[in-house]
Amino acid sequence: MFSRIAGTGSYLPEKILTNADLEHLVDTTDEWIRSRTGIERRHVVVPGETTTDLAEHASRRAMEAAGVGPGDIDLICVGTTTPDLVFPNVGTLLQDRLGIRNACPAFSLEAACTGFMYALSVADKFVRLGDAKCALVVGAETLTRITDWSDRGTCVLFADGAGAVVLKPSSEPGIISTRLHSDGRYKDLLLYPDGVSKGFDLVRKGNVGVQMKGNEVYKVAVNTLGQLVTETLSANDIPKSQLDWLIPHQANLRIIEAIARRLDLPMERVIVTIADHGNTSAASVPLALDTGIRDGRVKRGQLLLLEAFGGGFTWGSALIRY
Ligand code: ACO
Repeated sequence: MFSRIAGTGSYLPEKILTNADLEHLVDTTDEWIRSRTGIERRHVVVPGETTTDLAEHASRRAMEAAGVGPGDIDLICVGTTTPDLVFPNVGTLLQDRLGIRNACPAFSLEAACTGFMYALSVADKFVRLGDAKCALVVGAETLTRITDWSDRGTCVLFADGAGAVVLKPSSEPGIISTRLHSDGRYKDLLLYPDGVSKGFDLVRKGNVGVQMKGNEVYKVAVNTLGQLVTETLSANDIPKSQLDWLIPHQANLRIIEAIARRLDLPMERVIVTIADHGNTSAASVPLALDTGIRDGRVKRGQLLLLEAFGGGFTWGSALIRY
């Protein structure tokens, strides 16, 4: 038994911040941001708009695309680092919003930008084991809520959004394999240095946000993702030439280009949304997947390689026959 993608959806908040807007906020330029990252604009939430709001829109679109209703969903798994509340978790809040009343399991997991890959891998296992027949898998973030808007090294990168997929059982592989990794020794290179059991001490003092040693993250990300895509293909005995699409985490265009080169893939076969989406963390891969499907580039039967890398460090991939 395998799982297959029955439908996808995504959502971006309406408000857009351009690089020109950021020039008024910190000492930066449109040219610097474009040339170092590939980002031109990003969508951001407004006061009162939450991760669950974004997840709800994306989920409704994915459910519509899959032709399923609230009564069909029997698992909800959300990757997010920016939950509305400490608890209940975003999965449960989403369950209520969508009117899912069958008491199915609903939970969130946190793996920074790799959150969707982790959620997809977990949900895939539920479906393969026969424990779920219609799983809703979401990556949703409001990362701009934990951004330090005085730090030009990070505030130009992050953005908000959500993407969702519906997984159903299949006798043919759909999701061929997922691979997950993490290495906690890198915890200090990319982090949000406050939280519940630290008493939100820094939040109380104000001006806390994501901290990143960008240069060091960059080097590890390129190496690690390079190894990950090679490992994913060789573990499944699939040559690079058979790949139709690379659908990468959208953190930095230069990282994406380096991974495409590793795969000998021309950029025409890479779904790149970073210019318009920025880095939406756990939402970036399902947003890119849905973008490619809805604009007609990604077609049924094609072979897709999804990958992501984020704080922890965490990293993961999925090889999918769409
Ligand atoms: N505008 C203008 N100058 C800037 C800006 C800015 N927005 N930000 C930094 N600079 C300056 C720095 O101060 C530095 O100046 P200096 O040389 O006078 O000290 C100079 O630009 C170079 O800074 P670097 O940090 O070395 O720039 P780099 O080329 O590495 O680009 C970037 C920075 C874009 C952050 C890059 O390192 C990167 O993309 N890293 C990886 C990010 C990533 O993959 N994150 C993982 C996922 S995110 C997650 O999990 C939440």
